[in-house]
This record gives sequence, structure tokens and C-alpha cells, in this order.
Amino acid sequence: MKQDVRVFADVNELSLRAAEAAVRTINDSVRSTGRCSLALCGGSTPRTFYGLLASEFRDQIPWPSIHVFWGDERYVSPRDPASNYRMARETLLDLVPCPAANIHPMPTHSSSPDADAREYERTLKNYFGTDWPHLDLILLGLGEEGHTASLFPGSPAISERTRWVAAVETPANSPLRLTLTLPALTRATNIYVLVAGSNKAHALHHVLTGVPDPSSYPAAGIRFTKGKLIWWVDRAAEHWPGRLLVPS
Ligand code: 6PG
Repeated sequence: MKQDVRVFADVNELSLRAAEAAVRTINDSVRSTGRCSLALCGGSTPRTFYGLLASEFRDQIPWPSIHVFWGDERYVSPRDPASNYRMARETLLDLVPCPAANIHPMPTHSSSPDADAREYERTLKNYFGTDWPHLDLILLGLGEEGHTASLFPGSPAISERTRWVAAVETPANSPLRLTLTLPALTRATNIYVLVAGSNKAHALHHVLTGVPDPSSYPAAGIRFTKGKLIWWVDRAAEHWPGRLLVPS
């Protein structure tokens, strides 16, 4: 199936266009259901996007109707510099009037990551009250080796078909993590993947072309989504030697 890949000059432009689209998507959700569930990701790429939602687009978003979740979290204190929750607070949530009761961080406080994964699954079930979490908009990034959220190549969590949230060991910094699983991610109504930098070109090429192979490139697993999937890409990440994913 043809992927919706939108290529821009750099991370600033892709973030601006993605933020414009997110404002429309969020307002559409609130108009139709009275609320919008937004799942955030970590890493460096989304910082520009978050900053735009907190500034240029701040007053175009009905923050009291927004519920904020996470697609993954490092298993560290929420005060730890590595925390995705802390990054989102600093770049976005401390700057907008989203009610505290609407902010649902992944718990990292018990001594058992698996128990915290199950707690977050209960949080999602309390909110969605459905067979699966149908998040209105999930933001994701792409790792150089093809991970997304905290689903890394070779992880047993990639083949998880019933749990919504998994505790995983990863090869990354802050190796212990919680992550939404592919069945949870692919039930979202909208998924935006933000990808910038030439170091992502290899993974992006393998994720977007050919038959999806989530065990080798986990981000390919989101191509099976039932919702709308948009890849927001800069030219550096899109340029695979000798072939452009999207003819210019
Ligand atoms: C995390 C993210 C992770 C991230 C990718 C890309 O917790 O680190 O959720 O999946 O999106 O690693 O990170 P960069 O945007 O920093 O390249």
C-alpha cells in the first residue's frame, strides 16, 4: 500500500507542517467526540513540534479537552533528564492549560516494570473502555536501526498480540522501558511519525519499502495500522543513495 510520506527541507519545516496538521486532527476529534487522546513520544526530533504546540499553535488547541498519554517511557524517575515525561513537561505541558487530571504518564514507580505496564494498561482501559485503545493521535519517532516507541529489533514485544503495554529491555540508554505494543499502536485513528536526519535514511528506506519486516525494523509494523499514517520526513532522512522515496 502506498505510504503517505511528506518530505520537507528540514526538521523545522516538517515540524511546522506536522503541527498544523495536528491542530486540525485534534480539533476534529474534539468536535466529534468532545475530547482528544494524544500519545507523545520521546527523543530529540519531537522537541520542535512540541515547542510549536506550546507557542504558535497554543491558542488553537482546546487544551481542557485533551488527554495526554505516552507511547513509551524510559523506566526512570519522572525527574530524571532521560524521562520522556519530563521532556514533554519542559517543552509543552508546563506551557499549556492542559488539566493535570488529563495528563497520564506511564508509571515508573514500582519495583516491577511489568506491574507498571499492567497499571498503564488499566489506565488506558479506564479511558477507552474498549477492546483496544483507539488513540486519536499518536506521535512516534524512528531510531537509526528501525525502532519506534521502545520496540527495538529482535524484541519479543514485537510479536505481542494481547497486551497493550509491555515492559522491555532495550539496547538503548535507559535500557529498561515501557512501550505500547503494535496492536495498541496500530489501533490509533492517526499516527504521525517524525523523522529527521541522514542517520535515519537507512532505517526509513527499509521501513517504507518492500514487505514490512517488523522483527528487523519494528517501525515497519505500524504500516499495518487501521488508521491514517503520515510520515513527516526531512530531505536528509528521505535521501537514500540513488533513490528518493518521493520523487521531488
Ligand atoms: C524514546 C522515543 C524513541 C524515539 C527514537 C528517535 O523514548 O527515545 O520514543 O522511540 O522516537 O529513538 O529519537 P530521536 O528523535 O532522538 O532521533
